[in-house]
Amino acid sequence: MKAISILNQKGGCGKTSLSVLTSLALASSGKKVLAVDCDPQGGLSAFLTGTNDETPGLFDLLTGIKKIEEVIISVSRDNISFDLIRADYRLDSIASNADPYSMKRQFKSIEQYDFILFDNPPTVQGISRATSLFADEVFIPADVSMATLGPTLYTINALKDIEKKGKVVLVGYKEPKEEASGYMAEISRKFMEAINGYFAGNIPKTVTTARAISDPTIKWSDTKVDKLLSPILEILGVN
Ligand SMILES: Nc1ncnc2c1ncn2[C@@H]1O[C@H](COP(=O)(O)OP(=O)(O)O)[C@@H](O)[C@H]1O
Ligand SMILES: [Mg+2]
Repeated sequence: MKAISILNQKGGCGKTSLSVLTSLALASSGKKVLAVDCDPQGGLSAFLTGTNDETPGLFDLLTGIKKIEEVIISVSRDNISFDLIRADYRLDSIASNADPYSMKRQFKSIEQYDFILFDNPPTVQGISRATSLFADEVFIPADVSMATLGPTLYTINALKDIEKKGKVVLVGYKEPKEEASGYMAEISRKFMEAINGYFAGNIPKTVTTARAISDPTIKWSDTKVDKLLSPILEILGVN
C-alpha cells in the first residue's frame, strides 16, 4: 500500500481537483484506491457524491465512534470505481489536533488497497501534517498565480521539517514563449524558477475539466477528460 498526501497551504489551488483526477487515474488502471477527505469543508465528498450531507466519515473514525470499515463508501464515474471516506464540518473541531501516529495505525492496518490518497485542508498543520508525515509521496498542486507562489514555497519548506520532499504539480501552466512579456509570462517564469527542483509536471485547467471533476453526473467519455488520466499517472510516477 502506498499513501499519497495532496497538500498546499493555499486554498483553491487545485488540491481537491487533483485528488479526484488521481483517484480516477489510479482506479482506471486497475488499482484499488481509497480516497480520504481530510478537509472539514468536505469538498471531495461533495464532488464525488453530489451531496454535502453529514454522514459517517473521518470524524466518526478519528473520534472512535465508528470503525474504519463502517465509514468507507464506494463511488464511481463512468464505470471506474473506488472507495471514499467522507468529511463534513464536524471534522473542524478535531482537525488541528489530529494524531499522526494513531492515523498511521488506522490506515496502515487496512490491507486491501494499493493506494490511499489524502485530500488535505489548506494548512500544513494538524491533520495535513499528520497525513503528510506517514505518506510515501506528497504532491503539491499549484495554480499559476502570484497568490499561490508564497504558500507553495511555504508548503515545500514545511515538508522539509518532516523530512519529506514535496513534488509540485502545476495546474494550467503554459510555458511562455521566449519573447513573451506581460504579467502571465512573468508569473509563469517566476513560478518555474522558484519551484526549480520540485516540479513534477503540469495538468491543464479548463472549464470542461472543472465541470467533469465537480459534477458526478457528467460522462467523462463525453468531455474527453478521460484523456487526462494517463498523463496524470505519468506525472505522479505511481503507475
Ligand atoms: N485541473 C483543473 N481544471 C479546471 N479547473 C480546476 C482544476 N483544478 C482546480 N480547478 C478549479 O479551481 C477551483 C479550486 O479547486 P479545488 O480543487 O477545489 O482547490 P482546493 O482543493 O485546493 O481548494 C475549483 O473551482 C476548480 O474547479
Ligand atoms: Mg479542497
